[in-house]
Amino acid sequence: MTEVTMDKIVNLAKRRGFTFQSSEIYGGLASCWDYGPLGVELKRNVKNAWWRDMVQARDDIVGIDCSILMHPRVWEASGHLAGFSDPLVDCRECKARFRADHLATSPCPLKPSKMAGQFEKCDLTEARQFNLMFKTFMGPVEDTASVVYMRPETAQGIFVNFKNVQTTSRQKIPFGIAQVGKSFRNEITPGNFLFRTREFEQMEMEFFVKPGDDDQWFAYWTQARLDWYVKYGIRPANLRLRAHAADELAHYAKGCADVEYNFPIGWSELEGIANRTDFDLRRHAEFSGKDLRHFDEETREHYFPYVIEPAAGADRATLAFLVDAYDEDVVDGEPRTLLRLHPALAPMKAAVFPLMRKDGQPEKAGTVYDLLRQHFSVDYDQAGAIGRRYRRQDEIGTPYAITIDHQTMQDDTVTLRDRDSMEQVRLPIDRLVGELQQRLTAPLTRSSAVGR
Ligand code: GAP
Repeated sequence: MTEVTMDKIVNLAKRRGFTFQSSEIYGGLASCWDYGPLGVELKRNVKNAWWRDMVQARDDIVGIDCSILMHPRVWEASGHLAGFSDPLVDCRECKARFRADHLATSPCPLKPSKMAGQFEKCDLTEARQFNLMFKTFMGPVEDTASVVYMRPETAQGIFVNFKNVQTTSRQKIPFGIAQVGKSFRNEITPGNFLFRTREFEQMEMEFFVKPGDDDQWFAYWTQARLDWYVKYGIRPANLRLRAHAADELAHYAKGCADVEYNFPIGWSELEGIANRTDFDLRRHAEFSGKDLRHFDEETREHYFPYVIEPAAGADRATLAFLVDAYDEDVVDGEPRTLLRLHPALAPMKAAVFPLMRKDGQPEKAGTVYDLLRQHFSVDYDQAGAIGRRYRRQDEIGTPYAITIDHQTMQDDTVTLRDRDSMEQVRLPIDRLVGELQQRLTAPLTRSSAVGR
């Protein structure tokens, strides 16, 4: 069984160009990450899989893409200005800051074997509320009249556009509006790589339902979201649902369940599914003076719909997919690191290698590469021994490797190697596209994957 640590994931991500520390040449900006050539493909594939399943494959959900900066009144109405805060404590001795509710798991910087507040020199202040929204100024004058906020969730753009979307898309309740985009939170204790950052991407969907139908839709979306992670390769043993206790609920929520993942830091929230009731639409109606009620043509009633919200993080999901795919094994006496990524998520779907750099093999491999890249994201590699080239692709999760060898030059066949089983089959070049299309869309089998 492979032990997966955050260090192993961070090292692989850096070594292979999945992620880089933001502004690294200036010493880095804490908890901000840039996605490199492979990381941007992986994260985009995660977002595309979500969008395909949540929007394109359904009749009852439509998409939206709202601006990050919104009218400041939005955040008054939503309750974020007054209530989106975490309890903060400072240590007068070491000057570090902690979340008061995370003290038990925050090591003391002066004595890391003890937790904050437990070392004899710790001198913590009383907890005070710290608002997590980033403020900035609109226009050239930095006064209070021009303050705007970087959105801390994408959801509010959806609520304020509820009527616009419903009337233009002619959706009837129940229906949903989905959005993928950046959110910003001035987290007191960010960290653990992509898990908690101050700038991150969310994949949120607000599903508007008739009051009274909300419990049933909450159950539906909780299960659907758990199943989604399994569909893209996360082992069920590493996923669980956790219902929030009443004192954990956000100010707008009647109920909430987290999809939790068994990260190397322990079981932690991957996605939250909340029953937001009619809180947001009611508040925006009150603060804007606009009627945001839905008119039910059958019953001739006006009402504020209830909202069920599955809210996922694209970066946190990317991290979970990386962690779950990470594996180590031994091949021919040599250690191998591999990412058993679902083909839909893998940054590269296939790699093409000429076995030798002579006898016309590179040219032939170039033709195969050009053929395949019209259909898939494909890599080409002719450097080094073939075994090393396989390892390099295994380590970035490429499901298939195609080798052009001596026999190819005679009969136009190639070998196709499977990343997980390492089995090779020989097939004609003109069947390659069809074979890959079929294999890449087949449901994932994890016969060779080991659990953590
Ligand atoms: N609209 C509801 C909402 O924003 P949330 O539980 O605060 O709910 C939803 O956020 C998801 O966004 C989380 O489950 C997590 O995946 C992601 N997320 C939240 N804060 C994050 C942060 N600081 N860094 C990375 N991802 C974050």
